[in-house]
Amino acid sequence: NTVGIDVGTSSVKVALVGEDDRVIATASRPLEVSRPKPGFSEQDPQHWWQALVEGLDELKAKHPSELADVVAIGLSGHMHGATLLDDKGEVLRPCILWNDVRSMAQCEALTAKWPGLHSVTGNLAMPGFTAPKLMWVREHEPEIFKRVAKVLLPKAYVRYRLCGLYIEEMSDASGTSWLDVGARDWSKAALDATGMRRDQMPDLVEGDAVSGELNAELTRRWGFKRAPVIAGGAGDNAAGAVGLGAIHAGDAFVSLGTSGVLWATTAAFAPAPARGVHAFCHAVPNTWHQMGVLLSAAGSLAWWSQVAGADEGKLLAEIDASRASSACWFAPYLNGERTPHNDAAVRGGFAGLDGSCTRADMTLSVLEGVAYAMRDAQEALASAGTKLSEADIIGGGARSPLWSQLMADVLGIPLHQVAESEIGCALGAARLARLAAGEPLSSLKRPARVRTFAPRADRVSLHTARHRHWQGLYAALSGWAR
Ligand code: XUL
Repeated sequence: NTVGIDVGTSSVKVALVGEDDRVIATASRPLEVSRPKPGFSEQDPQHWWQALVEGLDELKAKHPSELADVVAIGLSGHMHGATLLDDKGEVLRPCILWNDVRSMAQCEALTAKWPGLHSVTGNLAMPGFTAPKLMWVREHEPEIFKRVAKVLLPKAYVRYRLCGLYIEEMSDASGTSWLDVGARDWSKAALDATGMRRDQMPDLVEGDAVSGELNAELTRRWGFKRAPVIAGGAGDNAAGAVGLGAIHAGDAFVSLGTSGVLWATTAAFAPAPARGVHAFCHAVPNTWHQMGVLLSAAGSLAWWSQVAGADEGKLLAEIDASRASSACWFAPYLNGERTPHNDAAVRGGFAGLDGSCTRADMTLSVLEGVAYAMRDAQEALASAGTKLSEADIIGGGARSPLWSQLMADVLGIPLHQVAESEIGCALGAARLARLAAGEPLSSLKRPARVRTFAPRADRVSLHTARHRHWQGLYAALSGWAR
């Protein structure tokens, strides 16, 4: 058996997985995001750790004998977060998350200083990435910056607590702006350009390789027969891809988590930074991927549910599923946007409200706004030569058939829902654990498809026209927020 751990933005999930990807049990604990200032987004790494320990304690209490047989643990986590440690391994400040946009000025400075950045790191300098965050810390918190001995991504911090080693794998390391993504190694030029040193970086392994072994105390606590190995693991999107078996060029998926992602696996490093397309390593060797990233996808619905004072299920149930479109419009730029705008300053908005608009109209406009933003990402990937003919759909938002169908109509391609898609990242992590324990890559099968949402021709043309109109919202909103 294996365990997959996913440090998500809204919860930590752990999954105990048996042979043939059979999910024996899962446990999860919620997490909060703190927003001390507009554009800031932080989490306390101690909360990830507490949530993980509670999750595994729960698996131990409910399934002791199956847990005892675990031979390997895999890790997945939200990407890009800057977890800063001193030379004793103590956390220096809250982790600055992937959707934190405070470091736009540092991105501009970095691009001006080193125009070669894009071809080495595969990406524009974006505030969500780790390197500009460290430049921000150097300017605004110099006392903390001086004490930084290691910079870890969220799941690498969790690994450190599990096995005492500082190790990262390629897919997550790609989101730092310090990796030479083609060479799969830290880039001296990138580190120099941001005033960082290689010894502040963790060592690198591939996602399917062994990175360490669980420490003796935790091995006893959870009753493992022998210390499980810990796989390199993957950033959450690459873990989702492994969960789907999306490891061959052309494989694609849409993820509706707190963030939104349109993913395409590529056989080679294929940077196309112009429209905010990300080009990263995959979590398996010799494989890369492109993706478009929206900063608020299911996150927009979660926000709207909080504002509307009703849970998401109730809001979705208020929408008449036969309706073709909403009477109003929504732009999901609650944290700025990455693909295609790379704009940390823009903010979201409702538009076209009239006195007859209902709460159901507004909820539907949120679903549409996220789908239209995903279509922007689809067009950005197409401009980089990556045209998708079908995709899987995963993440919390994919639980809604209404939203999944709308997404298929807006993107104009069939979208497949798969079994166990809600725990996709934890499952992907568990699969990487299995590979690290010695199974071959060919054992990664595609999970069963449980339902396909086919695009409906009349809706595709309606939404093509509506998407063009919606695109005008970005220009109207940029420069508006202060
Ligand atoms: C990807 C990204 C998000 C996070 C959080 O670049 O920032 O998808 O990984 O899930």
